[in-house]
Amino acid sequence: MEPYLAIFFLTPFFQSCCAWSVNNFLMTGPKAYLIYSSSVAAGAQSGIEECKFQFAWDRWNCPERALQLSSHGGLRSGKESIGYHYRDPLTTANRETAFVHAISSAGVMYTLTRNCSLGDFDNCGCDDSRNGQLGGQGWLWGGCSDNVGFGEAISKQFVDALETGQDARAAMNLHNNEAGRKAVKGTMKRTCKCHGVSGSCTTQTCWLQLPEFREVGTYLKERYHKALKVDLLQGAGNSAASRGAIAETFSSISKKELVHLEDSPDYCLENKTLGLLGTEGRECLKRGKALSKWEKRSCRRLCGDCGLAVEERRAEMVSSCNCKFHWCCAVRCEQCRKRVTKYFCVRKEKRERSGGGGASRKLKRKL
Ligand SMILES: *[C@@H]1O[C@H](CO)[C@@H](O)[C@H](O)[C@H]1NC(C)=O
Ligand SMILES: *[C@@H]1O[C@H](CO)[C@@H](O)[C@H](O)[C@H]1NC(C)=O
Repeated sequence: MEPYLAIFFLTPFFQSCCAWSVNNFLMTGPKAYLIYSSSVAAGAQSGIEECKFQFAWDRWNCPERALQLSSHGGLRSGKESIGYHYRDPLTTANRETAFVHAISSAGVMYTLTRNCSLGDFDNCGCDDSRNGQLGGQGWLWGGCSDNVGFGEAISKQFVDALETGQDARAAMNLHNNEAGRKAVKGTMKRTCKCHGVSGSCTTQTCWLQLPEFREVGTYLKERYHKALKVDLLQGAGNSAASRGAIAETFSSISKKELVHLEDSPDYCLENKTLGLLGTEGRECLKRGKALSKWEKRSCRRLCGDCGLAVEERRAEMVSSCNCKFHWCCAVRCEQCRKRVTKYFCVRKEKRERSGGGGASRKLKRKL
């Protein structure tokens, strides 16, 4: 049997935004790679899912089909290989591209590290390299720290190997991959256990644990808002001099920062060339119990500020409720109806025509 080929297959839809920058790159190497391929694939996927969560109420919402995993028979045959298949001429290098690289690389590192701790790999276990050493006042390293060093090294081999170019885009992608890995490291939590007479906690042993991946995503979203624009695109060819200038520029920027080279397009507008859908038709949030500030402003951000109107749509949800158990043996339920109101961005003329002088349309439908 052919070994499983894990391939990141980026569909045309996403090409304009955030493609990873290699053509059909194949890692034909030691069998060792195959051990990690399913973790790498799962990690990249979890990165994209986190991207969707973090950008759910943004104009750019980490569009569907961003990163698809598929097996791909069309790659060079016979070799055990992991191919990252992809790529388009319209590569972008904007803030969103930066985020996708960082979160994907973080996802890969995270999954490898966690799988290591779960005992999935023979050659890797807890990081106990510092155990017994003084960590800080009143505590020693001890216990089982998640082995981020392992996750970092393996994910670097997989993800960074996708950047074969030596231009500014490749440098940008590598920088953001690194920022993603730094985010995993930087959000790790120290967990401690007390020792001493009857819990007096005179000494503690501590180890480092991975946070929830959500925390890495939230951290990177903050970095995304502060991403630095580097002015390197013009004239940055492939000469030794420009390669030097690129290396120098990037090495002067902290590895924690996300960097981009281009400005983002206007995500309000549909642009087929760029594969953008625009915000027309998107749902937004208005009133709700536990909405964050960012969510509360989503209708303004997605509709109002994009020249669209907000349309209110009411619907009735029918569900089973007040279920009672009757002896013996039946469960009878009532049907409860619940009104739900949802909000969507629509074109202004459309709303006025269908809404009768601006009043909101009332749609009754079963959800
Ligand atoms: C590692 O974790 C992912 C999901 O968290 C899983 O899909 C994968 O199979 C795991 N194990 C190995 C050996 O790759
Ligand atoms: C789509 O984006 C491209 C590149 O920014 C631009 O040149 C073009 O005018 C845009 N098309 C539309 C329909 O906005």
